[in-house]
Order: sequence, then structure tokens, then C-alpha cells
Amino acid sequence: MSPPRSLEVQLAARSYPIHTGPGLLNRPDLWRPLLSGRQALVITDDNVAPHYLQRVREGLHDLDHAVLVLPPGEQEKTLARFGEAIDALASLRANRDATVIALGGGVIGDLAGFAAACWMRGIAFVQMPTTLLAMVDSSVGGKTAVDLPQGKNLVGAFHQPRAVIADTDTLATLPPRELRAGLAEVVKYGAIFDAGFLDWLDAHADALLTRDADTLGEATLRCCRYKADVVALDETEQGERALLNFGHTFGHALETAAGYDRYRHGEAVAVGMVVAARLSAQLGRAPSADCERLSALLQRFGLPVQVPAGFAAEDLLALMRLDKKTLSGRLRLILWQHAGKAEIVAGVADADILAALRASQT
Ligand code: NAD
Ligand code: GLY
Repeated sequence: MSPPRSLEVQLAARSYPIHTGPGLLNRPDLWRPLLSGRQALVITDDNVAPHYLQRVREGLHDLDHAVLVLPPGEQEKTLARFGEAIDALASLRANRDATVIALGGGVIGDLAGFAAACWMRGIAFVQMPTTLLAMVDSSVGGKTAVDLPQGKNLVGAFHQPRAVIADTDTLATLPPRELRAGLAEVVKYGAIFDAGFLDWLDAHADALLTRDADTLGEATLRCCRYKADVVALDETEQGERALLNFGHTFGHALETAAGYDRYRHGEAVAVGMVVAARLSAQLGRAPSADCERLSALLQRFGLPVQVPAGFAAEDLLALMRLDKKTLSGRLRLILWQHAGKAEIVAGVADADILAALRASQT
């Protein structure tokens, strides 16, 4: 078996490894030593459990462990489901040295991580991402949260995992729509950090869509590096980390407006990135040609790039105001200078935001 490809997320207080590669769920030697206590809670969902839960449980055979299997989907990333995770830890009578294992996509990772952050004021957790989106983004960096009807990820905490174990074999069972949603966050890294990576994605689009293992593995590792580097610089998003939110203020508003069940997170981010790029071009901050190129690449990956009819621009703007980047009532947006470079901009006029939303509407 080929060795995992690994890197470290280097933080001031504690660093942790990201291991990616095939077959890692069958490698408890990589993750079992990180579980210091005698107890573990595995949190997963109904789609993931039948494929992968047993392998993880085998690695926990000598521990007192419990399993919580939640229904899948963004609409389940709620305070009520978070309460179930806390109840499961209470039933396990989990000590402070217990570990939560998040086995699934970003919904499970965010929710399980938040439960670990809160139980006894914070216990260890390990991320075992099983979607492309979770491997390239949500499992790394320690943002944990649940949604409210009023907005995405409004209740949460920064709580770093002990390790990220990304078994790329799990991508074989991922539905095509989820693979495409993950590719949106992959494109995001090129858009904000590295125009050359956008070229690479263009050149390897077919291989990514047909799940060529080496190409997906390479993309995953590159994205983890971009993310690990920015998290190391700015763990709690005082500045540069906010660039990772390119497209997200618009995307989160769309997800919230749609009630969390119409869009995959990655799809909403794809639309949001194009709106943000269009707004940047409209303000004369970025070339329109780059915006068109970004839109074309996202469409090549089968992603939506337009705000559908039926969503009023004013309603989306009202939802955007509850974004976590808003300070003293002042919206801050991640805009574009050009492909490969983003910036944080405050004070964009409502009229300009509304115009970009309307220009992006079908
Ligand atoms: P998800 O967790 O809902 O997973 C997508 C779907 O795929 C679900 O139905 C799930 O059951 C299924 N699935 C997962 N792995 C599978 C597999 N290997 N085989 C078959 N089916 C599988 O969604 P996601 O796209 O992984 O994550 C989106 C979430 O991540 C959002 O809530 C978003 O806010 C969050 N997020 C968080 C961060 C962060 O930094 N914490 C970053 C980006 C996104
Ligand atoms: N996905 C945004 C972040 O981790 O900061």
C-alpha cells in the first residue's frame, strides 16, 4: 500500500497532521495513537455509515465507544442535532480525555467538532472527511458550527482537530453532485491564491470529473497546503483567513434563503464567487475577462453560476448583513483583484451589490 501524503497544520499552540491517500481508514496505526483516553464517540450520517463505519469501529475495538448516526444533509446541521451529539457524550459518560471522531462530510465535521468544542469546555476530535469538500476545506482549520434559520454557521467555535485522516478511497462512493460541489471549493483556492492552479484545473478537469485517483489526490493535497498555510498565519480569522470566504457571503445568503435544502454548499459558493467576481469587475477592481474565465471553469465542472429567478436581491442583501465578517453593521466582502488574488473590502455601496446580484440573475 502506498504511504499517505502528509503535511502539518502549524499553529502557535499545537500543530497537527493531515494525512491523505487511499486506504487510510484501514490504518488505525495513523490515528489510534492520537486517542489518549479510553472513550470515543463516532459521529457520522446515514449515507456514510453503511460504507465506512465498520472500518473505523474496528480500530476502536479496545475502547469504550459509541456511535451516533444522524440523518444526512445541511438541514440537519442544527442546534437540535448538536443537542443529540451532546446527549450521546453524556450517555457515554465521556471524560475530558475522550475523543470525538467525525466521519463524513462537512456537515458532520462541523457539527461533531462543535460538540467536541463544547463538551466539558473542549475535548479532542479527529476529522475523517469522506467528501471532496471536507477533504479540501472543512476538515482543516478548526472552524466548527451549526446553522440557524437566520443564517449559516452562526453558532460555533474555533476548535482544532487532533488530526485529519482523509481516505481518498471514500470518494468512490460520493454522488456526482457532491463531487462537483467539492470542486467549487477547489476552484476557490486557485481564484484567491494561485492563477496557475486555475490553469492546472482547466487542464485536468476531465480527470477530476472522472475521479482519476492520482489527479484527485494531487488536487486534495494542494488545497490542504493552501489552507494549512493560511490557517497557520491567521488561525482565528483576524485578517487573511477571511479570503477563504470568497463567494461565501453571497453563497451563504443563497443557502439560507433557500432553506438549506436546495443548494449544496459548494454550489452556492460557485454562484457566490461569480457574483463577487462580477461585482469586482463592475467596480473596476478586476478584469471582466477573469470573471468570464472563472464562470466558464465552474460551468465546466457542472456548477451553477447564476442566482435563480425568485430570489429578490434585496432579500439576499438583508441576509448578507448577518455575515460573520460584518463589523459594527458594516458589511465586508471578499472581492477580486484578478485571478489568483483576492482582497477584503468594506464600504461597498448597497446599490452596487444589488446591481451585481441582479446582473447574475437568470
Ligand atoms: P455534507 O456533509 O452534507 O455531505 C454531502 C452528502 O454526501 C451528504 O448527503 C452525505 O451523507 C454524503 N456523503 C458524504 N460522504 C460520502 C461518501 N464517501 N459516499 C457517499 N455519500 C457520502 O456536505 P459537504 O459538502 O461535505 O460539506 C458542506 C458543509 O461544510 C457545509 O455545512 C459548510 O458550511 C461546511 N463547511 C465548513 C468549512 C469549515 O471550515 N468548517 C469549510 C467549508 C464548508
Ligand atoms: N472555509 C473558510 C475557513 O475555513 O476559513
